[in-house]
Amino acid sequence: MKTPTKGDLAEANTHLLEAAPIETQPVQLSRRALLGMAVASIGTLVTAKAVSAAQPRSHGSGGRVGQGRDDGLRYPLQTPASVPPNLQYLDCAPAQVNMGDGVKRWVWAYNGRLPGPTWEARRGDQVTVTLRNGLSQPTITHWHGLMVDFANDGGPLIAIDPGQSYHYNFPIIQRASLNFYHPHPHMLTGQQVCMGMAGGFIIRDEEEDALGLPPAPWEIPLVIRDATFDNQGNMRYNPSGSGFNGQFPLVNGTLRPVLKVDRGIYRFRVLNGANARVFTLALSNGAPFTVIGNDGGLLQSPATVTQVELGMGERLDILVDFSSLGAGQSLTLDCLNARWELIRFDSTGTKGVAYTPPAVLSTIAPLNGPTQPTRTFTFDGMSRINGRQYDHNRIDFQVPFNTVERWRFTTGGNAPHPVHVHGASFQVVSRTGGRGRLFPWEGGWKDTVLLNDRETVDVLIRFDAYRGLYVMHCHQLEHEDMGMMVNFEVI
Ligand code: C2O
Ligand code: CU
Ligand code: CU
Repeated sequence: MKTPTKGDLAEANTHLLEAAPIETQPVQLSRRALLGMAVASIGTLVTAKAVSAAQPRSHGSGGRVGQGRDDGLRYPLQTPASVPPNLQYLDCAPAQVNMGDGVKRWVWAYNGRLPGPTWEARRGDQVTVTLRNGLSQPTITHWHGLMVDFANDGGPLIAIDPGQSYHYNFPIIQRASLNFYHPHPHMLTGQQVCMGMAGGFIIRDEEEDALGLPPAPWEIPLVIRDATFDNQGNMRYNPSGSGFNGQFPLVNGTLRPVLKVDRGIYRFRVLNGANARVFTLALSNGAPFTVIGNDGGLLQSPATVTQVELGMGERLDILVDFSSLGAGQSLTLDCLNARWELIRFDSTGTKGVAYTPPAVLSTIAPLNGPTQPTRTFTFDGMSRINGRQYDHNRIDFQVPFNTVERWRFTTGGNAPHPVHVHGASFQVVSRTGGRGRLFPWEGGWKDTVLLNDRETVDVLIRFDAYRGLYVMHCHQLEHEDMGMMVNFEVI
């Protein structure tokens, strides 16, 4: 055990001090800002709920607020605006948004949008942006899936206070992929994500360009989550003992969305942005669709499936063929578990794009590593890894740089536990117990793997981008907030 090094925190400190555009006074770096909420106890979860009740409540829609129930109406799928890698500000603040039904609902948003804008960057780009905390509680933004150093990772050790800013500046050094940005302040992540702060981060590269995949408007991000409204129709965070389970789905922040589709191939970039819900995705007619990528980008080869179990924080790149859907016909993408219709596709009858993926999409060099686990992590109860709750001031283990290790994740219960590692992608090599097998969407490079009850999953992992402090945690966000997280240091 070891405490975070002065060097790491001093580096983060320079990011905090170098940018303070919304401050009227220079930002004083407090130990609390760096160590987040080290003094807080689990009681903070209760306090945090009181904060959400303090937001403005007027919506002026004369009581027509809607509770998200299905009234038979469908609303056009919204697509998040895209932003370039050199964005000036990323603001976190309460905002009113329209989820399709015209009602203005209070949420917490990035740049006033739900989901936040989609970043569009290419390998080799430099990302620069200043995060501004307009909430009344600490926050920090993490770039889930991006290979960045400690000071840019936005982990819980560098949460900033209300009114403070944090400057990010990092290069994109990885392959094409869909990533996920969201808040990461310890004990407040579940609330902030649920209230609406989350979005996609797309990276493109030459390898992907060469495939000639269908471009926009046939390439569409689908950020899927669940939600609950309070009796004013505003976003509500009311986790139960088993985490936050919303009453209805939202896709790209749209209630009961419908998308008009041409008769052709669509490329959907799917992200499970829910706090605690696994989505079992399938088309309503049971038709197969093609998985071409996941968390870390393209798979080696396309995989044909009829359903996918997508854990929180996991991503999917799929091709869906609507060419046999005649004008006026519809199909839906459903969650079989929840028995929800997530989105309805209505055919325009117009001819769209044709596309057949090549048999080989990419070359995934298998990691060569130990056959026995280097480390074993048990996900215990709802708040512990290897028997311990997260402690800001404890570095749980150290990992040698550029060395392939075999990590074993195991649990007896209280799943789903989607296990997520910062700082590197991994290759999933085995699953025993529970579902007892690996699935086609778990090939290639992953940063999050779903651990169900009584499962043991082995992954091969190598930290070859940066040395420094990172976290590993359960992406069931209430588990994470309660302490199912560890600090480790790549040395
Ligand atoms: Cu998506 Cu550490 O988080
Ligand atoms: Cu992450
Ligand atoms: Cu968990």
